[in-house]
Amino acid sequence: MDVEKILAAMTLEEKAALCQGLDAWHTVPVERLGVPAVMVSDGPHGLRKEVEEDGKKHTIDAVCYPSAVGTASSFDPALLEEMGRLLGASCQAENVGVLLGPAANIKRSPLCGRNFEYFSEDPCLSSRMAAAHIRGVQAEGVGTSLKHFAANNQETHRMSVSAEISEQALREIYLASFEGAVKAAKPWTMMCSYNKIMGVYSSENPWLLNTVLRDEWGYDGLVMSDWGAVNDHVESVASGLDLEMPRGGDQEDRAIVEAVRSGALDEGALDEAVRHVLKLVERCVENHREGEVFDRDMQHHQARKIARESMVLLKNEGGLLPIRGNRKVAFIGDFARKPRYQGGGSSHINTSRVDSALNAVRSVCAVTYAQGYREEDDLPDEGLQAEAVRVASEADVAVVFAGLPERYESEGYDRTHMRLPEGQNRLIEAIAQAQPNVVVVLHNGSPVEMPWVDRVPGLLEAYLGGEAGGSAVVDLLFGAVSPCGKLAETFPRKLSDTPCSLFFPGDRESVVYSEGVYVGYRYYDKKEMEVLFPFGHGLTYTTFRYSDLRLSADTIAAGGTLKATVQVTNTGSMAAKEIVQFYIRPDHAGKSRPVRELKGFGKIALQPGETGTVEVTLTSRDFCYWDESLHGWFLEPGCYQVEAAASSRDIRLTAPVTAVGQPLPVRVTLDTEMGDILSIPGAREVLDRVDPRMAHFPYDLPLHNVVSWTQAAVTREKLVALAEELNGLQCFEPEA
Ligand code: GLC
Repeated sequence: MDVEKILAAMTLEEKAALCQGLDAWHTVPVERLGVPAVMVSDGPHGLRKEVEEDGKKHTIDAVCYPSAVGTASSFDPALLEEMGRLLGASCQAENVGVLLGPAANIKRSPLCGRNFEYFSEDPCLSSRMAAAHIRGVQAEGVGTSLKHFAANNQETHRMSVSAEISEQALREIYLASFEGAVKAAKPWTMMCSYNKIMGVYSSENPWLLNTVLRDEWGYDGLVMSDWGAVNDHVESVASGLDLEMPRGGDQEDRAIVEAVRSGALDEGALDEAVRHVLKLVERCVENHREGEVFDRDMQHHQARKIARESMVLLKNEGGLLPIRGNRKVAFIGDFARKPRYQGGGSSHINTSRVDSALNAVRSVCAVTYAQGYREEDDLPDEGLQAEAVRVASEADVAVVFAGLPERYESEGYDRTHMRLPEGQNRLIEAIAQAQPNVVVVLHNGSPVEMPWVDRVPGLLEAYLGGEAGGSAVVDLLFGAVSPCGKLAETFPRKLSDTPCSLFFPGDRESVVYSEGVYVGYRYYDKKEMEVLFPFGHGLTYTTFRYSDLRLSADTIAAGGTLKATVQVTNTGSMAAKEIVQFYIRPDHAGKSRPVRELKGFGKIALQPGETGTVEVTLTSRDFCYWDESLHGWFLEPGCYQVEAAASSRDIRLTAPVTAVGQPLPVRVTLDTEMGDILSIPGAREVLDRVDPRMAHFPYDLPLHNVVSWTQAAVTREKLVALAEELNGLQCFEPEA
């Protein structure tokens, strides 16, 4: 396809038509010019391709992988890349050109109904896992759609609410999760969010779609809307949106044509949108492979392997797990028989093969079983509970499968509390009283309160483990492999502890992100608050020792990088994998910042007694914060600690680094205080030239008061010139 030649040959009407979908899942073809339609389908953890048979629509039988909440817990970009390749292969087999995902929105509140589909509360982890997913799918010649750009952090009023976010929080947290993935993996497409940001719909926000995404981050792919996210199609095209999905209607084509003819819409902007659509079609056509087979069996086994790495062992007191030898084991709970393995909404995969733990365990050992509760009930069933307690008490070990029913969390609505169904809580308490060797396995897409946690020695967070999750749980319970996941989100003790509990989900018009950058562990650490389980926490069936943290340099300047390495030794008796986290902690007085922030991580497999090295590269940007007076990244000079950690609350080793560079420029105005002015190198000489008394005025005196303090010897005009000269003294380039 010669994009420019086709573009030049298109009529205005044909161009207008190309800027919206043909229907819900296809781009518009231009037969006259040999431009085919291309199909897009959801994602992100399976292929949700819609087909129509006998007039009825349904989605194809596909393979359901673990949701992002779980795969993020693997802290393993290579694993996610592998999953992406499998997803890409299934898209090739089904002739789908773009898989809609990954979803990289930050988990601002545990209540967001769609958290299961998002990676983390931390932008470093979220962006790197999203980038891995993108790389994998696109390595198979299929596009992705990094979504939902940006600040779609709740489902309540998602199609109209305005996210009111400080510039610093937007840059450091909510945009950073996308920035890293865009720059590292170059998704073929982006999907803009439904909501507004500071009062402007994302679908018609030129600052977001052109200034930040294209000019600053260098993005050159296509931007599509979320489904139904366009408010004003002409305004959208003018603002950098290329493709409205799904089709909005003929009136939208007419509106584009009329706007160009009247001069209200620059035809160059329309051409840019059409160019992006044509380039996407060209990429899909050029990369399509005929004859690809969707091997569901092979992919099911891969889904089991991925699920094993995506679960987190939260407690294992007394080495209760793995269950060894010929112990009598009881499985309790409806989820053992019918696991909750995925989330609700557009990511919901139709699969014909779901492993239950109850079936899977039969290939390992005989177990007794009691239903304990019905998934559809919230309240306890006394009869089922009594039977479950009896079965549990007669065993050596009781495993209770619990979690959130799909009605509790989904795309389209948020939770209003963090509790499990009351019937499940009562059941767990009753079983814990009758059977001290109790393990709880959780199936949930987001954190839950655990009133029974102190009475349960074994706790495995299985999250939504995909169609093979039941088998993966059994693999971990019985030690086929050691669990190795770590939490990609904090589990708070209770909802009222959460950073935005007072401000979530806002009201009909707006939601104010009053907590700023203090999201997740950034908040709990700053508040020195106890949590149920900290970000980055996860146990294995062995133990690890960290030693010899080394840095390639003990200073860092703007644009610089340094390497950090640490030795890790498996000091236990079972092969396992360890996730080492690297945090940066400012260790000097200065701007109020989070106590520590994750800036790198590595995962290593070690045999008992084996020692290995984990290495990360840190950049000067990792030490920066976003300064709102500069509207840019600032490397604040001073000492920092690089921390090698097993979790955000288990810091094993630290090493100092000094950041060198200029002090924060003072943007001098008539309101700037004398103390800040005197902090500018060379300012004293300038002030003395104007009036030697100024340097001795009170430090908190705003500059405009100098007129009265010098009885107008120094006029306002002189002060304006003075401010200009002082600003000229400070030439400063923010970090990229
Ligand atoms: C939905 C979702 C988006 C999905 C799209 C197509 O509303 O927000 O993630 O890809 O529509 O189903």
